[in-house]
Formats: sequence, C-alpha cells, structure tokens
Amino acid sequence: MSNGYELWLNYDKISDDTVLKTYRNQLQSVFMEEGGATMEAIMMELEMGLGGLLDREIRFDSLPSSGNQLVVSKYGSLPKDFKEDINIDYLNSEGYIIKHIKKSGRGYLVITGKEDIGLLYGTFHLLRILKMHQTLEGLNLEESPKVDIRMLNHWDNLDRTIERGYSGFSIWNWQTLPDYIDQRYIDYARANASIGINATALTNVNANALILTPQYLEKVQALAEVFRPYGLKVYLTARFSAPMEIGGLETADPLDQEVIQWWKNKAAEIYKSIPDFGGFLVKANSEGQPGPQNYGRTHLDGTNMLADALTPYKGNVIWRAFVYSEHDAEDRAKQAYSEFVPDDGKYRDNVLIQVKNGPIDFQPREPFHPMFGAMPNTPLMMEFQITKEYLGFATHLVYLPKLFEEVLQSDTYQKGKGSTVAKMVDGSLNTKKLTGMAGVSNIGTDTNWTGHPFGQADWYGFGRLAWDPSMNSEAIADEWLRTTFSNDEEFIKSVKKMMLESREAVVNYMNPLGLHHIFDTSHHYGPGPWVGNLSRPEWNPVYYHKADEDGIGFDRTKTGSNALSQYAPAFEEKFGNLETCPEEYLLWFHHLPWDYQLKSGRTLWDGLGIKYQQGVDQVKQMINTWENMKPYVDEYRHNQVRMLLGIQLKEAKWWRDACMLYFQTFSKMDFPKEMESPE
Ligand code: GCU
Repeated sequence: MSNGYELWLNYDKISDDTVLKTYRNQLQSVFMEEGGATMEAIMMELEMGLGGLLDREIRFDSLPSSGNQLVVSKYGSLPKDFKEDINIDYLNSEGYIIKHIKKSGRGYLVITGKEDIGLLYGTFHLLRILKMHQTLEGLNLEESPKVDIRMLNHWDNLDRTIERGYSGFSIWNWQTLPDYIDQRYIDYARANASIGINATALTNVNANALILTPQYLEKVQALAEVFRPYGLKVYLTARFSAPMEIGGLETADPLDQEVIQWWKNKAAEIYKSIPDFGGFLVKANSEGQPGPQNYGRTHLDGTNMLADALTPYKGNVIWRAFVYSEHDAEDRAKQAYSEFVPDDGKYRDNVLIQVKNGPIDFQPREPFHPMFGAMPNTPLMMEFQITKEYLGFATHLVYLPKLFEEVLQSDTYQKGKGSTVAKMVDGSLNTKKLTGMAGVSNIGTDTNWTGHPFGQADWYGFGRLAWDPSMNSEAIADEWLRTTFSNDEEFIKSVKKMMLESREAVVNYMNPLGLHHIFDTSHHYGPGPWVGNLSRPEWNPVYYHKADEDGIGFDRTKTGSNALSQYAPAFEEKFGNLETCPEEYLLWFHHLPWDYQLKSGRTLWDGLGIKYQQGVDQVKQMINTWENMKPYVDEYRHNQVRMLLGIQLKEAKWWRDACMLYFQTFSKMDFPKEMESPE
C-alpha cells in the first residue's frame, strides 16, 4: 500500500527474483570517492536505494575489490586503467557517464563525471535503471543536460497559500524555519535532483517584498543549505517596489541612484549568507504588479538595473514576458512580442526573458509563443505550467508532458524548416550563452505532493524535458509508470496509452478546434464562455471566442488582429491559409461561419459537437482502462484515481453541455446526431 509520498523513488525490494539475483551479483560492493556534502548525499541515496532494491546492507569497499563492484568517482580520481576506458571530453560540468567495464575477470559499473553533482545525477539514473529492471551488462551511457537552468517556480505566498495551487498548502513552513528542517525539504531536493532540476524560485511571482528582509532571508538560507548538496539553487521573486516597501525609499525608479544602490546592497546582503544564490525572478508591470513603467521607464531599464546588482556574484535576472495591458484591447496575444522584441540584444549577459509557452496563458492548447525564435540575441527561457490552472486543477488526469512535447517540437521556421522551439530553448540554434526552462510547480503539502497521483508524472516529465527538450513524452511516461507503479507489461501498455491520450481528451471536452480561454472567470475551473468579469475586456471569455450569429473564432490573420505576422513567414502562410491551417488551431487564428465545411465534410458546428462528445467518450475509456488495472495497483491509489476519474467524467459532460448549449444560442442549429443529449 503506498500513499504516494515516495514519488518515483520508492525503493522496495525488486520483486523479480532473476533480476534481483543478477543485480546482487553485479553490484557486490560499492567504492565511493571521499568527498563533501554531495558525496554524502550519494552515499545516503545508495544505502536507501540500492539497499532497499537489493534488500541487503550495502558493503562499501576499496577499489578494486574482490568481486563485481559499483564505482562512484570523479574522472580525475579514477585509477589510470579505468580512465583509459572512458572519455569525458564531451561531458559538461553536470554530466555523467555510466559504463560497465570488465577488468581481471571482474565487472565494474562506473559512474563518473567532472563534478560531484554529475555523480549524484548518475546515481539517480542507475537507481532508475534498476527500478526499470534494465540490464547492466555492457552498459555505456553518457548524459549532459542540454539546458543550463532547469527550474521550478513556486507560486507560494508567505502565508502558505499558493496561487493556483491545488495540492494543499506551501511546503515552506516560514514559521518554523530556520530552526526546524522538515524532512520534506530533503525529500524535495532528492526528488528534484533525481530528474535533474537544479533551481527553484521559492515564492510567488506576484511577490511580497518581505521575503527580502533579513528575517526571511535567514529562513531562505536554511533552505538553500538543505538544497546545496543536491545541486539545487535558490531564486527569489523580487517585488519591484521593494526599495519603497521595505527600504523606506520614496521611489523604485530603476534609474534613481538610491534605488540602484539599494538593490546592490540587497544583493551583497543575500550573497553573504547564500553564496550560490541563483538570482531574481521578476514579474513587473503585469496584472497590476509594480514595475519600471510606473516611472516612465522600460522593461529593459528595470532588467538591466537588477542584472548589474547581481553581476558581481554571477547571479541571474529572470524577467517574465507575461505582460498585457487593459489599455490595448486589440489582441492580448500580441502584446509581449511588441514590448520585448524591439530590445533584442540589449539585455545584460546575466538576463533571461522568461516566456510562457503560448501567447495567452497556459491553455489546454495554444500555438507556441511568437517570441520563440524572434529574439536571436537574447536568452529566452521557456515557462510551462505544471500546476493545471486551465486543465482541471489536480482533479483531472491530464498527462502534461504530451503538451510540453508538442510545444517543444513545434517548428518556428525562424531559421528554416526544423527550427523547433526545443532548439531555441536549448540554445542550439542561436548558440545562446544561457539557457533555461521553468515549470510552475504543482507541489503542496498533500501526502502525495501533487494531489492527483498522476500529477507526479507532470513534475517528473517537466524535469526530464528540461534536462533534454528533445525527449519524447512516451518514453517519459514509460519511465514514470515503471518507477512509480509496476513493470508489468500489460499495465504499462494500457496506462501509458491512457496517459498519452488524456491531453487530447481535455482539449476535446474543454477547448476544441482552437477555442481558448472560455473558462469561468477568475478561478478558471469550469466552463464559462458567456459574458463574465467585465472589469477588463481581455479577462472576458467572449473576447476570445467572438461567437455571434455569423460564426465563431478569433481572426488573427491580416483581416483581423494580424497576430500571425509576429511569426516567421512560413508559419504565417501555413496557419493563415484555411487549406493548410491544422484544424486544432482553426478558431485560434480564424473566425468562421457555423456552416464552414471541415476536412471531414461536416459543418464547423457539427465538428464542434463531435469533438466535445469525443472528449467525454475518451474519459469513459480512461475509466474502463483504469478499472482493468486493479490487479496491478495498490488499493489506496487505485481508489484515488478511480474517484477522480468519476469527477472528470461528470465535468467533461458539464463542459460539453454548457459550451454547446451556449454556442447554440448563436448557431441556432441542432446538435449533431453523434452527440449525447445534454444531461
Ligand atoms: C495567470 C494566473 C495568475 C498568475 C499569472 C502569472 O494569469 O491566472 O494567477 O499570477 O498567470 O503568470 O503571472
């Protein structure tokens, strides 16, 4: 029985006797290079992990030993004859090699790299291999992360509530820090290191300046000390008006000398206690947050001022491009591009601009953000949302790596065909100096961390894709299922299929054919395509679907907002032309009459109804699949998922019925015969 707390790091004894016997023979003892805190973390993980999986106490020994051995050592410290068999030239400082070497009749499984952190990542990889029952014989693999900053963004408030958090409260207990170190902090670091995440922004982007006061910095320091051995750097969100709110200044103008000095002093203060502090994450002049524009300055002014304060310590500024203004109601999708692209190349070297995956806001499906590829001289950091604000919170089962993969594999055409977003993000197309990927965390105090047991797969998958944006979501699902539940092939086959289809299911029953942002206002949970919050036009769902008696959809072609012109010409041509625009994006880019003929020959109206129904049917299918998985899953988690899928089905129908009945008031057409009658 598992309550899910251990995530994918459950180290119960390997149940397959043949596999267990082989591993026990291949890993008779362990040699570990001596070292500091990271080496101790490795030793602890091996005692728990190897000890647990092999169900025996680990014997640490010198090198060579009398039998087959696991060797964990930096390349520089390996004996000469081991070095001859290994080439580390292509590894970066966080990379590792795992190689099975035969010497004098003995087998050595060597985990090596340039730095301790590589050895830790390699150790977690080995434990994954063991959990997946893969063979060690002849193993020879080499891994280096393709992205520099692989980061979680916690939208956690200091009172422990979480903006868009659906899995309990914040795991940061500011009240008992710095003296009380919750075991969860250590397990959090272990889990992140196991998937290569190396940075974490602890606080909400809608920032509270108090986090930068000495009282809180002392608590941040305690967390940073727990995370350091695991290679996890701490970032904080910087409220732009902090110099006024906690510094007593009269302005936060980024060109004011006192303000500049205040941030320099603050940086010095932070680095004194946290020497490896990552830097600041900033949301400015967005949704009411303060920023440089309050003083007639630009994002560039604000960014570079903060960057200069961090430069002496090699810290970074991550400045978010999620900006849109109520004063420009033409098309919210265009605004970030218009504000940032003209300043390409003018940002300091330690600046990354963090861009959401799509131009609106973490919808079930969006085209990629047009800024990707449009700023070749500025590091752009991908921002995904792991918490499912617009995808059914922690209640619906939606496997997000499928969405992430779709975005990363999208072709920007910016440097010809094949210029994928992934290649923009990992810098390979522009030889960027600094690269990064952030995921808005779905973690909270729930026993299993993420509320829905399958939410763990989204955290896991985000980490794996940040390490290597070219990975495919199917391989990730395979790893996660095997390490979290079972290696049984029947289980893997069925549940993997269910996970991979779950993303399309949610698109179908929420926002098919390119519809977007038709969620009930402010909480974004259920359907609300009708007129909602009128305080800002672009928070109103009717702004996005533009349904009327003539048709539905947002015209973003030349005859409309022309947002398409922000993309490369080849993209603009393909998506602007109704013949070639993929139907998944139809109503994102086009406004079309209700009787517009789809590729299937059906009308747009019928096609919409069929998609909504398909979404409902897909959830029914998920329920069937899960019912059949009872023999493979413990009762506790099987029940949790079963009950949640029940809610998901009810709500898929709710979406279908609410949207179709509402749109019918404009189309005035009958529901297609494939659709069940509304409930
Ligand atoms: C969304 C979300 C907000 C959040 C914002 C952001 O709009 O609803 O809660 O603050 O994104 O990313 O800054």
